[in-house]
Amino acid sequence: MKPINVGLLGIGTVGGGTFTVLKRNAEEITRRAGRPIQITVVADKNLELARQMTGGACRLTDDAFAVVADPEIDIVIELIGGYGVARELVLKAIEHGKHVVTANKALLANHGNEIFAAAQKKGVTVAFEAAVAGGIPIIKALREGLTANRIEWIAGIINGTTNFILSEMRDKGLSFEAVLKEAQRLGYAEADPTFDVEGVDAAHKLTIMSAIAFGNSMNFDKVYIEGISKLEAVDIRYAEQLGYRIKLLGITKRTSEGVELRVHPTLIPEKRLIANVEGAMNAVLVKGDAVGPTLYYGKGAGAEPTASSVIADLVDVTRMHTADPEHRVPHLAFQPDAMVDLPILPMSEVITSYYLRLRVEDKPGALADITRILADQQISIDAMIQREPDEGELQTDIIMLTHKTREKNIDAAIGKIESLSVVKGKITRLRLEELL
Ligand code: HSE
Repeated sequence: MKPINVGLLGIGTVGGGTFTVLKRNAEEITRRAGRPIQITVVADKNLELARQMTGGACRLTDDAFAVVADPEIDIVIELIGGYGVARELVLKAIEHGKHVVTANKALLANHGNEIFAAAQKKGVTVAFEAAVAGGIPIIKALREGLTANRIEWIAGIINGTTNFILSEMRDKGLSFEAVLKEAQRLGYAEADPTFDVEGVDAAHKLTIMSAIAFGNSMNFDKVYIEGISKLEAVDIRYAEQLGYRIKLLGITKRTSEGVELRVHPTLIPEKRLIANVEGAMNAVLVKGDAVGPTLYYGKGAGAEPTASSVIADLVDVTRMHTADPEHRVPHLAFQPDAMVDLPILPMSEVITSYYLRLRVEDKPGALADITRILADQQISIDAMIQREPDEGELQTDIIMLTHKTREKNIDAAIGKIESLSVVKGKITRLRLEELL
């Protein structure tokens, strides 16, 4: 049968992996897709690199705009990244009636509403399995496998760099800075790690999952984002003493007041499977009303794991290439005219539990003053430990876990507690989720 023709834009790590896996598994992929999938042309600024990666197996060009307009091409794979030229190319490809496969989470989180509307109008598909959690088929699971469910919440470890850093901090008792340096030396963290360590990459992926889970528009500008760069090793230790691990979670939850959309370091009970996801691995926990909690685990980055998702999309698009656009799986799981605009809750209105670490003078009445302020804000204490002060030490650490409360109440209590003369310096506040 006539092959489907693919134009690949950007042949870096993932592009190379896509080439390798498509070639290695060509026979099985063809049996699944119903026809061969062939990368016909590769566009890259670095033609020499493109030559090396493709081994002369296809046409090469440095003009990506020519590829998206090429009448021979049926599907365009966008692996350029960012949302400048990548956005223009994707919109041009759609305009020319091409289907698009992309791994670009930043592009979809920021411009997904525009891109999916354009694709819908033109009757083409924009597939993006590789944009969230690399090789884990989480988009397919959310959009199709869980389609019977009212999805209640999603909590995911969706950034491998930060999970690697947190695992190392816990294992070795090292500071964030020390582990980051080592991770950069080993090539696990980027030279500029800001997007990863400050939670932006996770927020991109969370935005996409939230839209599919609730049939809501993409709301990247409303995500509450807090990274791990300020996290101290001492809090990882105290959390462990209390039976918790700290993970950078992307959380989205449907509540009667709106949708929670937040990325922050989170204490989770160590007995949860997801608490034991270590190193650069990713995992996404999805709670559906019918199925209950489900967990998806795997590699969130890397050449072949990400290529696994890119090729899954290529096969999907190939299978439905000739199908009537009305009868395809909708981009965001819900039919385009059934999408809604649910409000995103400001962080001050989010309800969760908290971990507090306070440095206090070790004298009678200190604890009573603190608990009085918490009680006045209707905040109930769930567990508490006090570090045994060293010989002659006049101050100590108190660590408290609270029951659920609204973020604005804990903020008000923290302000008041910090102004007590027995309390020294700033209180460390982390959020805690039971994930039940
Ligand atoms: N930089 C990401 C991570 C992988 O560390 O997980 C690509 O999204």
